[in-house]
Amino acid sequence: MNQLSNLSITLRQRPVGIPNSDNFSLTSSPVGEIEENQILIKVIYLSLDPYMRGRMSDVKSYAEPLKIGEIITAESAGIVIQSKSEKFQPGDYVCCRSGWQEYFISNDKDPMTYKVNPDLVPLSTYLGVCGMTGRTAYFGLMKEAMPVAGETLVVSAASGAVGSIVGQIGKQIGLNVIGIAGGKKKCDYVVDELGFDECVDYKSDSFHKELESAVPNGIDIYFESVGGMVTEAVSKFFNEGSRAPICGYISNYNAKDLSKVKTPFHIFGAMKNPPKHKFFLVFNHYASFDEANEYLINGVKSGTLKYREMIEDGLEKAPEYFKWLFTGRNFGKLIVKVSDI
Ligand SMILES: NC(=O)c1ccc[n+]([C@@H]2O[C@H](COP(=O)([O-])OP(=O)(O)OC[C@H]3O[C@@H](n4cnc5c(N)ncnc54)[C@H](OP(=O)(O)O)[C@@H]3O)[C@@H](O)[C@H]2O)c1
Repeated sequence: MNQLSNLSITLRQRPVGIPNSDNFSLTSSPVGEIEENQILIKVIYLSLDPYMRGRMSDVKSYAEPLKIGEIITAESAGIVIQSKSEKFQPGDYVCCRSGWQEYFISNDKDPMTYKVNPDLVPLSTYLGVCGMTGRTAYFGLMKEAMPVAGETLVVSAASGAVGSIVGQIGKQIGLNVIGIAGGKKKCDYVVDELGFDECVDYKSDSFHKELESAVPNGIDIYFESVGGMVTEAVSKFFNEGSRAPICGYISNYNAKDLSKVKTPFHIFGAMKNPPKHKFFLVFNHYASFDEANEYLINGVKSGTLKYREMIEDGLEKAPEYFKWLFTGRNFGKLIVKVSDI
């Protein structure tokens, strides 16, 4: 019998607007026994990502909404502590879709449970730059936008997990890269540390003017992560043949009535000459995961890809940290430290 007890966070009620602690329940229950071909994983780092907000609403999307009482969806990095599988041994480090909890029993055939090597790059990076958000950046730029050296790329949420990597890859392949981020501190980081050519603060009164002077030759690629007034602003500068891969539109995620929101599809759709635009999902490119992983891990190992993480302690505070994604309080990939490595 397992003596371990498992803390988990479930959906108590669907949030209206930005989620608050009333929307979640903290539950403690015994860890179950593993069966043949199963492993028990102790979660070390838990990833907090904007898409989780969509799962909390009762709205149809590419993924089923969470049911009331269900554990909040999430990917995590952890260590195998018990195994009845030939594929995994205790002591193996893995990423898995554990959800917001301390322990997770996985079937060894689950494609979302896979080994990672913290001797190559730090374990936490497998949730960010060397994980889902890094791969999203790689695929969105390289496979969706089809960039050509010399083009102008504008990246929204530029200091964040996805945007920071999009812009750095853009520089490496010879693009002129302009970031958009909230506040001077983030904009300075984007230029001084990440090496973007310029970064425009969308919270500044002079945003529209600064954006215009940052793109004298127009925009060839806009990497869409935020929607709303940023998308309205960039929509004035698209060149003939431009592309706008739609990765997300975070400014709309907490809307009280999503059916009344003007998404990037509405904004681009109303243009006379819209950029080629399409929503893409990181998992659309599953076949190229190894290619992206190699690029990202090599970039981190060699120091050619810079990244920033915000690692906060305590699973029970995950609902509080999660809100930060929607206020811009996070600065870099937001991760919760659930237990010691
Ligand atoms: N399609 C996919 O497969 C896929 C995969 C991963 C992520 N995504 C999407 O990619 C986007 C970025 O995700 P991430 O993980 O990299 O998050 P992140 O950029 O690390 O964090 C979210 C950032 O969004 C910005 N933001 C929040 N509210 C905003 C608003 N109202 N207007 C403008 N900016 C706002 C904030 O930065 P500022 O302080 O600069 O405002 C915040 O720090 C999200 O839309 C997410 O859903 C999509």
